[in-house]
Amino acid sequence: MKISDFDLYKDLLKEKSGLSLTQDKAYLLESRLSPIAKKWGFESLDAMSVKLRGVPDRNLVNDIVEAMTTNETSFFRDTRPFDLFRDTVLPYMKQARGTRRKLRIWCAASSSGQEPYTLAILLKEAAAQFPGWSFEIVATDISTEILAQAKEGIYSQFEVQRGMPVTLLLKYFTQNGDKWQLNSDIRQMVRFDQFNLLDSMLRLGSFDIVYCRNVLIYFDEKTKSKVLNGIAAQLESDGYLFLGGAETVLGLTDAFKPLPDKRGMYVLQNSEHLKAAS
Ligand SMILES: C[S@@+](CC[C@H](N)C(=O)[O-])C[C@H]1O[C@@H](n2cnc3c(N)ncnc32)[C@H](O)[C@@H]1O
Repeated sequence: MKISDFDLYKDLLKEKSGLSLTQDKAYLLESRLSPIAKKWGFESLDAMSVKLRGVPDRNLVNDIVEAMTTNETSFFRDTRPFDLFRDTVLPYMKQARGTRRKLRIWCAASSSGQEPYTLAILLKEAAAQFPGWSFEIVATDISTEILAQAKEGIYSQFEVQRGMPVTLLLKYFTQNGDKWQLNSDIRQMVRFDQFNLLDSMLRLGSFDIVYCRNVLIYFDEKTKSKVLNGIAAQLESDGYLFLGGAETVLGLTDAFKPLPDKRGMYVLQNSEHLKAAS
């Protein structure tokens, strides 16, 4: 690929999705965009690049963004963020929201749904402790294609084996041939919606808990800071934020502080959780 074309895609992806593409990923452009060029009837990647320099079709741009996103995910990914949800977050919220009896949770880059559905299953498992409560799980992603897949809640044997304990698999999924579908009571607990993290988050409302895991790693520092500050503005003052294992707030924002001994879990800087921990 010509350097000028690499820059064309680099700028486009940065503007549309925040993805920060480095030269060592040029090979990814070729392998992931060739099928898109073919789908749109271009003779070559070069021909698609020429079109993109003019007035490109919005759907073509979307296809390019979707092709370049990484959707890697799994049920109970990394285990610890979900242990903390069950053992720290839920007991706290049970007390703190005891009058309101409502929890709003946001999975900000939900991919094919394993993360929000893991939370829905944990809430279902804890339901006896929360009589009369309502739980709203909002799961968003930039990719409409992956969201359509997530809504179906259908997973391969390989996908369920990656993290879903057998007891929960048998309890909450129905087997259909070599696929497993989440039962409708769990699927109905999650509302999927297309949302670009670069956009204003105001319309989403406020949340008690936010999972924004394994997406900031693809952004540059400035974009990471902007997204983290946006989330801070939507989080209740005693809310919790979870980031991925390779992500941090350090050097990016003062809005959040990590919780000592609770890796991956963050609270707002003046949060009562910090006072309690010190
Ligand atoms: C690697 S997956 C992470 C899935 C899940 N959070 C996890 O940790 O397993 C990253 C997801 O971020 C989404 N994504 C990338 N850029 C985005 C953006 N600007 N706004 C919203 N979602 C984005 C991708 O479509 C992809 O599904």
